[in-house]
Amino acid sequence: MAQINPSILSADFARLADEAEAVRGSDWLHVDVMDNHFVPNLTLGIPVVESLARATDIPLDCHLMIEDPDRWAPQYVEAGAGSITFHVEAAAAPVRLAREIRAKGARASMALKPGTPIEPYEDLLPELDMLLIMTVEPGFGGQAFLDIMLPKIRRTRELIAKHDLELWLQVDGGVSAATIERCAEAGADVFVAGSAVYGAEDPAQAVRNLRELADKASVEAWWACEH
Ligand code: DX5
Ligand code: ZN
Repeated sequence: MAQINPSILSADFARLADEAEAVRGSDWLHVDVMDNHFVPNLTLGIPVVESLARATDIPLDCHLMIEDPDRWAPQYVEAGAGSITFHVEAAAAPVRLAREIRAKGARASMALKPGTPIEPYEDLLPELDMLLIMTVEPGFGGQAFLDIMLPKIRRTRELIAKHDLELWLQVDGGVSAATIERCAEAGADVFVAGSAVYGAEDPAQAVRNLRELADKASVEAWWACEH
């Protein structure tokens, strides 16, 4: 079944606990950490993640768009995140970092910006619990989905099948009712949605709609047939 992770980047930052409650029934809450160096935007850090983890039962999916994740990522596990995504472009030692995240008890995930190919990382995939393919340039919510990323999603799903891995494939950026089916058909099974959820009148209903669209599209997809 498809997993939908609402991104609180599009929520009201002054009411984060209520905004988490508004998407009850979601699989994970996606938390975008930006440092104004790796991306040209600044959001939140460890103290906010700590408070949010205490304020909600929904597990936190922390997307670190920061320099030096090797230094900072373990502290986000300690802050209470259940899944940590670091960017491979920023990591000095991705294998060591993924192992450290797992050893501390969280799921380890690696993200690729639109210009970063998957092929050089084929051998690293067994070290990961999730791979994130960005479908916009990271930094801001509300951007248009990049269709040119669909072949990369497809190729990544092929690698997952080839190596018979239990690896979740997440997409983030511009995911909405208009684009989620394309992502699911191509091979994604975890979907981040910011503006499509928090811009809706009923965010929890928007999550259910997105999940239904993704489920339908993936049932018919080539990659789901063996599952
Ligand atoms: C962008 C962030 C996304 C963002 C997605 O850099 O990583 O998680 O919140 O927002 P939408 O769904 O509006 O594109
Ligand atoms: Zn994100």
